[in-house]
This record gives sequence, structure tokens and C-alpha cells, in this order.
Amino acid sequence: MLRTVLQLILLVLLLLTYFNDSFMAAVDSFNLLFTESSRPFKGCRDALLLLGIYYATKKSICILSDLSVGVRTYLWPKVSPTDLSQYGKWAVITGGSEGIGRGYAFALAERGLNIILIARDMRKLQSTGDEIRDRFDVEVEQISADFNEGPSIYRLIEQKLRGKEIGILINNVGVMPARPSPFLTNDSDYLQRILNVNMGTVLFMTQIVLEDMVSREKGVIVNISSIAGYNPLPLMSAYSASKAFVDYFSRSLQYEYKDKGIIVQSIMPSYICPSRENDFSAILTTPSILCPTANVFADSAVQTIGKNNRTPGYWPHGLIAWSISQIPQFIWYPLVWMIQEQLAC
Ligand SMILES: NC(=O)c1ccc[n+]([C@@H]2O[C@H](COP(=O)([O-])OP(=O)(O)OC[C@H]3O[C@@H](n4cnc5c(N)ncnc54)[C@H](OP(=O)(O)O)[C@@H]3O)[C@@H](O)[C@H]2O)c1
Repeated sequence: MLRTVLQLILLVLLLLTYFNDSFMAAVDSFNLLFTESSRPFKGCRDALLLLGIYYATKKSICILSDLSVGVRTYLWPKVSPTDLSQYGKWAVITGGSEGIGRGYAFALAERGLNIILIARDMRKLQSTGDEIRDRFDVEVEQISADFNEGPSIYRLIEQKLRGKEIGILINNVGVMPARPSPFLTNDSDYLQRILNVNMGTVLFMTQIVLEDMVSREKGVIVNISSIAGYNPLPLMSAYSASKAFVDYFSRSLQYEYKDKGIIVQSIMPSYICPSRENDFSAILTTPSILCPTANVFADSAVQTIGKNNRTPGYWPHGLIAWSISQIPQFIWYPLVWMIQEQLAC
């Protein structure tokens, strides 16, 4: 404010000087008038100046710190990639037959890990498994399980994983709503899946692998949250809350086990293409820099393991997340409401 007023005064002075020398007298009188009239507010002016300096310094430090996080997350892995095979021989991926999970399976197999895929449809699992075996010299196993069955399903999974050195667990499986809709239109089956598939799997799968990781003093647990978990998302309330749950769980668990050699990473991507059949819009089903394919995304995200424990995993999504973090909440809600209403149509 003070800066704007001073700039306006300067502009008037310049204009006066430019147009006519005879205005100089007027300038002098104006200067005198300004100095004299602002004398009582000098203390106030100094306080505002200090406030401005504090704000500018704080903003600069935040921007520099955000830039350094970007360099550490996305550029540093190119110079010094993490050797992911050091954590153990096997990687387990829930929902590994399609989409992001499939992308992770390929990216981890490329880095020398044997792969265990878990999903419902054995045919899809086998086809993904065969593709991985054809391309990489690794072992692949498939487990057919429906995570929506709840806690009972984990006994089978635990048996199948017993005796294997699990270095990396990717808690990827999750259900997304077909499109934004009011909470009361969500049926109980969908809400049950949000609980069992989006949230339950993360807890129970972690319990299965963590003990052995702690005894070996190394291991990685990657939990796929979403950009929907950063801020509340009206018209996708249950999904958004389930992703915030995944993020909070990951961050607390990381703190609990960081001294035991365990990495817990929360990955919070934006849209990935191609999404499911009933997509929100054509823009979100055409691959682009903002909407990458699952393979492009996963290849970027695995490189961030060990470099940043809470990240979108892909730099253009990092820019989106950063922009969101700059929006005040009182603007966020009406803005996102407007967008969600459009997508709901
Ligand atoms: N796609 C995006 O734009 C996006 C953005 C941000 C975050 N995410 C998150 O990323 C994760 C993966 O999303 P995606 O879009 O890649 O998913 P997707 O393409 O729908 O793939 C889902 C995978 O999970 C399996 N699956 C689904 N329900 C299952 C169940 N009840 N039990 C066992 N397996 C099940 C599917 O195989 P079967 O059908 O054979 O079981 C498939 O392998 C989710 O957690 C999602 O919330 C996605």
C-alpha cells in the first residue's frame, strides 16, 4: 500500500518535471507539503516498512526452500539415483495389474526387483506378469485377492508372502468415484470400498511387511494418496478424506520408524491418463505433460523414493500442488466447487 502511494507520488513528480519546468515550483511546494503532512505518521511508515521487509524476506525464503525441494526430488535422482534393490529382493504391488500399479511394477522390475502383483482378475494379472517376464530378467508372482472382502483376505496374502524378502511395498490399490457427486448420492457399496480398499489395505498390508523390514533394518513402503488429499474436495468428500487418511498415516508412520531404517513415502499425484472408462472429461483422458500415462508417472515416482517422503512424484504435478498450496481456503472452496460442478455434468 505504502509502496503504491509512493510510486504514485513519484509518477506525478516525473510527469510534472517532464511537461514544464515552470511546474518545478509546484513540485517544491508539493514536496514540502508531503514532508510536512507525513511527519506525524513517520512511526507508522517505519512500521509498515519493517512489515514489508519481513514479508518479502519470508516469501523469498519459502520460494527458495520450495525450489530446493524440487531440485532434491526431481533433479538429484538423475545425478544420484537410489539403488532400490538394496532394500530387499521383492516388491509387492497392490492393484498391480493396471494403471499406476502396473507402471510401478514395470519401473521396479527394470531396477532389478522381483515382483508380486495383487489384484482380483487373474487373467489381467497373468498378462501383466507375462509382459514383465518378457521384458526383464526377474521373477513375477501373482496373487488373486479382493481387498473389498475386508480383514479376512490378509491371512491368505500373509501366507503367500511368508519367507520372501520384501524390500518394497507399493500400497497402490484404490477406488475413485466415477465423477464428482453429492455425498448423499454415494451408495453404501461405494462407501464400503472406500473403507476397505482405499484405507484398510494400507493398514493391513503395512502390518504384514513392516515387522520383517524392521528386523532387517531396511525397507520402503510407498502409499499412493492423491492430490485430492491435500485440500478438502467437495463433491468427492469420501474419496478426498480417504486420501488425506493415507497421507496422514504415511507421515506419522515415517516418523515412528525413521530410526529403524524404514522409508514411508506418501505419493500425491494429480490426474493420470488413461483413467478408467467413465472419465470426467476428454482433457483428462488425452496424455499430456499435465496428465501423463501411468508408465511415465511411475517411472518418475520411483526415482523420488529416498529423496522426498511426501511428493506428487512427477514434477508438473509438483507445480500443480505448489499452486494449490498458495490458494487461501476462502478462495479454494468456491473455486473447487465451481470446477467440480462442471465435471459433475
Ligand atoms: N488415476 C488417477 O488419475 C489417480 C490420481 C491420483 C491418485 N490415484 C490413486 O492411484 C491408485 C491407482 O489408481 P489407478 O487409476 O491406477 O487405478 P486403476 O487403473 O483403476 O487400477 C486399479 C488396480 O487395482 C485393482 N483393484 C481394483 N479394485 C480391487 C479390489 N477390490 N481388490 C483387489 N484389487 C483391486 C485392479 O485390478 P482388478 O480389477 O483385476 O482387481 C487394478 O489392478 C489409486 O489409489 C488412486 O486413488 C489415481
